Amino acid sequence: MDLRVTDTSYLEWSGDALAVGLFEDQIELSGDLAVLDEQLAGTVKELIAETEFKGKEGNSVATRVGSGTKIRKIVLVGLGKVDDFKLERLRRAGAASARSAKKEKCKTLGITLPILGGDAAASAQAIAEGVELALYQDTRFKSEPDDKGPRVEQVDLLGLAGQDAAITRARQICSGVILARELVAAPANIVTPITLAETASAIAQEYGLELEILEREDCEKLGMGAYLGVAQASDLPPKFIHLTYKPEGTPRRKLAIIGKGLTFDSGGLNIKVSGSGIEMMKTDMGGAGATLGAAKAIAQLKPDVEVHFISAATENMISGHAMHPGDILTASNGKTIEINNTDAEGRLTLADALVFAEKLGVEAIVDLATLTGACVIALGDDIAGLWSPSDDLANQLLTASETSGEKLWRMPMEEKYFEGMKSVVADMKNTGPRPGGAITAALFLKQFIKNTAWAHLDVAGPVWADKENSYNSVGATGFGVRILVNWVLGTGL
Ligand code: BES
Ligand code: MN
Ligand code: ZN
Repeated sequence: MDLRVTDTSYLEWSGDALAVGLFEDQIELSGDLAVLDEQLAGTVKELIAETEFKGKEGNSVATRVGSGTKIRKIVLVGLGKVDDFKLERLRRAGAASARSAKKEKCKTLGITLPILGGDAAASAQAIAEGVELALYQDTRFKSEPDDKGPRVEQVDLLGLAGQDAAITRARQICSGVILARELVAAPANIVTPITLAETASAIAQEYGLELEILEREDCEKLGMGAYLGVAQASDLPPKFIHLTYKPEGTPRRKLAIIGKGLTFDSGGLNIKVSGSGIEMMKTDMGGAGATLGAAKAIAQLKPDVEVHFISAATENMISGHAMHPGDILTASNGKTIEINNTDAEGRLTLADALVFAEKLGVEAIVDLATLTGACVIALGDDIAGLWSPSDDLANQLLTASETSGEKLWRMPMEEKYFEGMKSVVADMKNTGPRPGGAITAALFLKQFIKNTAWAHLDVAGPVWADKENSYNSVGATGFGVRILVNWVLGTGL
């Protein structure tokens, strides 16, 4: 799909579908829109009346226009109330325009939307992201695509001439989101720890990043007993991935991003029972997917920040050499862990990854993990939990999330709850009682950080969408990539 910016006014533009954004409180026709309505012999007015279109956010209506006009279809896209107009609404309007054009079997689409707060660059980028993300379709595992209709081949953003750099940025970021979606959507027989390492290697080669893959023996030397305990029942080798982006010159900041990379989580001997969603546990590398997606985007965006992308990738399986419930493991910082539940494996892999990241001398560490079902119970499918002892880092991430439209909610680090993790025989257990399960998981991770600013994002809910919403189809969302990119770039509204 070709995405362009142009100064052509929407009265002049010719093509298959023209999408026009309208605010909820401003749907009466005036100015250019009244002229367009006249050009189209009253079709816009009729469409509004017939569909009772109110301009509500996310709504869109379309109809064919009479022959002899420059366009074939007109699409009206609701922008919601003009009051708290946000970048995310432009992104969604871009997505709604693209979806509508596709549904209406249009090959060319012109989009005309308002510019937010005079910031044409940010507006163009948001609209372009919405278009790109909404039009992406994953047909890798279908012998024939379900939808054989014509594809949207060309999208013109009207009135945004000169914003080519913003479009390029959007495409670079979306290439990272799409990589994350593809990694998460692929099943565990396709994406293994080896595949994740190969993906990191492909990014390193294409964009000139440094790559270090620690094999099992290397991890043994570093004493990564927690991570290796999880990996020990799999027939596949664990791969500890460390990909580094270094800017030219002195970096302004040094950061680390860690993603939970369980390419399948059977639960181990505390095996996931039927009804537990075991068949969805291919998505348990959603954190690693977002980490590699962010690496791909950041490698192209080239900020003046050094970023370490890390994942302790493995499977959580069962076999004769699986961890026994009750085993005691020693992590690479010397702390001992009694495994009272082999299904709380993500935190064990993250423990050694956090210790590794802190030794790199970075200024801040953010981990993303599909860590607990408890977080999904607390915040639902659309919102990720954010834990951090640092208000400063938490606020940086909340700003990045506000700009990206990927929702985060800050959760408490209630130290008292760590009492539930006390072990009689070891320094700690790996699970506490059921109540507050997402909080105790975060408190567990905190044991592996000494004094670097750190934040944990539990993304178990939003990595996958059961229903189509705005720019996500059903399936993997690529959640987190855009938060990470904004955080590293320091982009906020
Ligand atoms: N990968 C799961 C968490 C998960 C659950 C992700 C549902 C996505 C959807 C994690 O490894 C896990 O099994 N967590 C357990 C922890 C429990 C044993 C303390 C859970 O949430 O049940
Ligand atoms: Mn588990
Ligand atoms: Zn897991």
